[in-house]
Parts: sequence; C-alpha cells; structure tokens
Amino acid sequence: MRAIKPDESSRIMNASTAPNYLPKVREQYEALPYPPCDPALDRTQLVSTGNDRLDYLNHRFFDGSQRFGSDFRVLCAGDGTGNSSVFLAEQMAQLGGQVVSLDLSSASQAIAIERTRIRKLTNITHINASLLDIPKLDLGEFDYISCSGVLHHLANPDDGLRTLAGALKPGGILGIMVYATIGRTGVYYMQDLLRTLFESGDVPMETQLSVTRELLAELPRTNWFWLNNHAFMNDITQYGDSGIFDLLLHTQDRAYTVDQIYQWVARCGLKFAEFIPQRSHQQVSYNPMTHIKDPAARAIISALPIPEQQAIAELIRGNIIMHTFYACRGEVPCELTGDDHSLIPNFGIVSPISLSDSTNVCNALRAAAGQSMATITVPNVPHPIGLIPNLAVPDLLAAIDGQRTIAEILNLAHNAHPSLHRDDIISQWNTLAHEMLMQQIVVYRRAEGARILDALSIQHRSVKR
Ligand SMILES: C[S@@+](CC[C@H](N)C(=O)[O-])C[C@H]1O[C@@H](n2cnc3c(N)ncnc32)[C@H](O)[C@@H]1O
Repeated sequence: MRAIKPDESSRIMNASTAPNYLPKVREQYEALPYPPCDPALDRTQLVSTGNDRLDYLNHRFFDGSQRFGSDFRVLCAGDGTGNSSVFLAEQMAQLGGQVVSLDLSSASQAIAIERTRIRKLTNITHINASLLDIPKLDLGEFDYISCSGVLHHLANPDDGLRTLAGALKPGGILGIMVYATIGRTGVYYMQDLLRTLFESGDVPMETQLSVTRELLAELPRTNWFWLNNHAFMNDITQYGDSGIFDLLLHTQDRAYTVDQIYQWVARCGLKFAEFIPQRSHQQVSYNPMTHIKDPAARAIISALPIPEQQAIAELIRGNIIMHTFYACRGEVPCELTGDDHSLIPNFGIVSPISLSDSTNVCNALRAAAGQSMATITVPNVPHPIGLIPNLAVPDLLAAIDGQRTIAEILNLAHNAHPSLHRDDIISQWNTLAHEMLMQQIVVYRRAEGARILDALSIQHRSVKR
C-alpha cells in the first residue's frame, strides 16, 4: 500500500500483505486507466460526478447542518483517474473536509495525482491499494464513501460492499454505482462473443482491441449491442482503447437488477436510501407511472411496494444501464422539505436552474401567469421544467439566492404582493417547493450548514488558486 500526497511523494508506505485483488483487473487498469483523462483539462473544467454533490448529501442525509470541516472525511474507493476525488475535494477546498483517494492502479493514480497538483488541492491523500485491504490500512472511519463503477469488477462484490460498510462512521453514507443487467443486455452478448474468440487467454490486449474494433465496424444492425448503444458510444468514440476494453473485454464484470440491489444492500448490513437523482431525471426513470396510462395497470402498480414499482420501471424502460444509489449505515434520515421556514433553499450544484438563469425562468413564469402549468425549457437541460405560475411564484423563485431563509423569501414575496393574504403566499410556496424538490431544482441547508458553490464558481476559484 502506498500513500502519496502530490507535495510529499516521499511519504510512501509498503505493505507486505498478500494480493487482495484480481491480477487481470489490475493489469487492465495499469495498461488502460479509466476513464482516460488529460490532466491539462483541469485548468479549464471541473468534471462533476452524479453521486458526489455535497449540497445534495447535506440536504438529504446531514439535516442541512453539515459544515464539511476538517473532521468530515470522504473515501473515494476505486477512484480511477480522480473524477470523484477532485470534485469532492474542490467542493470542500475552503471548508477543510478531507478526501482519501484509493485505487489499485498506480497508472490511474498518477493521473489523479497530477490533476490534484494542477489544481493545487491540499486535501486529497492518494493510496495505492485494494479496497479489500482497507481494514488493514488504518485509514479511520468515513462520513461518506463514493464507489462508482468498481464493485462489479471484484471477484466477490459482497466482500467489497461489506468492507466499505465497515469503514463508515455510524450514520455514514455510501454512494455506489454498479452496472444494471437489463440495459446492458447487448453488452453482455458482445462480451460472450469476444470471450469465445479469446478463450485461450493468451491473446495480447492490442490484438483483442483491434479484432474488437473490426467486429464493431462490421456488426449488423440486428445485433443486440445497437439497442441502447447511444449509452455506450462514449466508451467507444471518446475513451478509445480504455473504453472499448472496459466495456467489452473486461475479465470481471457483473450487473444487478433493482431487486438484486435491494437484496445486496440488506445482505451487507446497510439500509437502502434511494436511487440517485441524476441530471437526466433518473428518479423519473424508476417511476413506472411515467410510462403507463391504463388506469387498471396504474391501480395494480400503485398498490405495490416502491422497490417492486422500481423493478417494473426497469423492465418497462429497458434502458437503465447502471444503478446509482445511496445506502446508509444506520437508519435513513428524513429528507428536508420546504415546510420548515428556517431552512435556506438554493439551486443545487447541478440543478436545471442556476442563479444566473433564474431571472429568465422568472420572466417566463410572469409571462405565463394564469396558466395552470408553465413549461420552461432551459438551455442544456434535457427535460423541460414544469411549474405552476401562480402570482407570487416568480418573486418566490427570484428571492432564492442561497442565503435567504424561506421565511425571508416569503416576506419578500408578500411585500411584492400586499393584496395577497400571507396564507396564499405560503400555499403558493408549498406547491412550488414540492415541484422543485420533485425536479431536483432546489436543495435545503440550515444556517450553520456549509454553502457549496456551483460548479462554475468552484472552477473559477480553482483557476485563481
Ligand atoms: C471503471 S474504473 C472506475 C473509476 C472511477 N471510480 C470512475 O468512476 O471514474 C474502475 C476502477 O476500480 C479500480 N479497482 C478495481 N478493483 C479494485 C480493488 N480491488 N481495489 C481498489 N480499486 C480497484 C480500478 O483500478 C479502476 O481504476
């Protein structure tokens, strides 16, 4: 095991432990770090990772009061080339929170370390080790563990999840991404095909890659792989050899259905919290009702427990290619809602509305006043936002600045509409707050909780550092 900080590369520790990983998997990621990434891009852009948004974690799991100070500890297990560690460390750079980035592949880690150096981040420690060795590494416990795209590559993912669960503080949270079975059907048929070709096990990686490229070029459109292929094309067209090998030639790759995720999490002593809301409205994708109009079918499905409804959504959609979810060590906390007027709402770090474009949204709502629902299209957001444009709604929305409490926002809206009864304003806020929570437009924090900047501001700050 080696622990390396970019500014203290002499701090290298050696572990004399027996290998606790799959050699072929390590070999792959030493040769082909994933995702491939040019550290120079860190000078201009911040990659955000779906499960690592600290404003959302605070809102959802830490009662809005987390400061992300020096006692807040994050582990990125199987961090690869550093997307999670960089994003998390940047969010906490002024707050003191610490990140441990752990990965099996030293080649991937060299990239993560270079990115950390370019950004002059001092709150990441890099450890070169297998996550299964965590109990021997004396790393202490963590408030949040991020593990994306890793556990499905272990010989025994249960061992991996149990190990991570054991490294959480009581009340700690895990953010996990693993592959989803149904959406990757075509990938697994391609893997079967390629495994048949390279059965002997001695075929060099370069040969496997060139044969695979040729096969893909000639693959008839009837092949299952073309179904959902837009979801995998990034691996092939953007990530080159690393992407193709990771997608189609991996020696250890398994996937889960919704039902299996619930069973897995429970088996490993954790509580399932939720599938992680994504910019692409992942939450909607786990709701079968978005696809079912027939009243009889709706009645049957709505009577089922939520996990069964989500499993139906997975079967109906057919295109969920990964499951990203949170699990807790301990009871799942209640989500903050806009009923508590001492809370401070803000547009989330990846909200479809940001502070800079909220004026446009407010103007569109003013223009739509009187309609039962206004549908607003925001640039770069895949789904239009639907809000009921009640009279005070534009003023309520315009007053959200990440600093004002709901009570202060209600007062401002009341001053703007003195003829409206205060209860009307509150009722309009309640409707708006509900819509905004459903569409992941706002997150809440308490006054003592840290304010997390939006990704653009974080990048500006990083460039100036
Ligand atoms: C598909 S990559 C994902 C990288 C990163 N989490 C991301 O999403 O960008 C899988 C990573 O898991 C790492 N890995 C695989 N088995 C591991 C193990 N037993 N311990 C630690 N890291 C492991 C690999 O080296 C590789 O960097």
